[in-house]
Amino acid sequence: MDELGPAGFEEWHRGFVARRGRADPAWRPAELPVPLARSLARFQLGEGSDGAGLIGAATAAGDGDYLAAARLFVAEEQDHARLLGRLLAVAGRPTVAAHWSDSVFRLLRRRAGVSRELMVLMVAEVCALRYYRAVRDGAADPLAREVAARVLADEEQHVPFHVQRLRVDLAARPAAVRAGLAAAWWMLFLPAAAAVAADHGAALRLLDVRPTRFLADAIALFRPVVAAVLGPAAGRPGGA
Ligand SMILES: [Fe+2]
Ligand SMILES: [Fe+2]
Repeated sequence: MDELGPAGFEEWHRGFVARRGRADPAWRPAELPVPLARSLARFQLGEGSDGAGLIGAATAAGDGDYLAAARLFVAEEQDHARLLGRLLAVAGRPTVAAHWSDSVFRLLRRRAGVSRELMVLMVAEVCALRYYRAVRDGAADPLAREVAARVLADEEQHVPFHVQRLRVDLAARPAAVRAGLAAAWWMLFLPAAAAVAADHGAALRLLDVRPTRFLADAIALFRPVVAAVLGPAAGRPGGA
């Protein structure tokens, strides 16, 4: 478990700092079909919304290294909102101010500790992984593909970052508690991922990804996350 100690988060911090200095894509006019623009606008809203709760919980947890990395994580998500907002703007498409999915995620995370914050957030992160891959690989517009590739590369770091923090918090819990948490996590994930697949179905079809394919792929991405955080191999203290 030593590799999961507080020192581990310094490395994540360095990764976030390194990515922060990247140049933007070369902004130019873009063409986004309405279903894709609507779908991107919903993701844009979610990207901009995950700050205060996690930072508050991380502050309360009192781990300075993690808090420093978490602040940069939040900034990176907000930068995704900026990039997607700019993409929508150059395509002449509107952003949205509210959507029920964003409200549900906010409600679930209200007054949560770090673990619950991250378990709820992870559901969105895993869906985002599959979603941005679909945009990167399937969008007709080159700028949309470029922005999606950039966001996806960051999201691929977010999932292991949260896995590491969740393991710090949850690995020492008794096996029965971990099994219960895993079941609860799946019960949150499955309807949420199905809702994303349905809600973004028109955009996904446009990107040549059937919603059922999206759901199956998201499940395949989530399974190793649950195993890494809560599976038998996630370990008991000293049990390894
Ligand atoms: Fe993001
Ligand atoms: Fe993310």
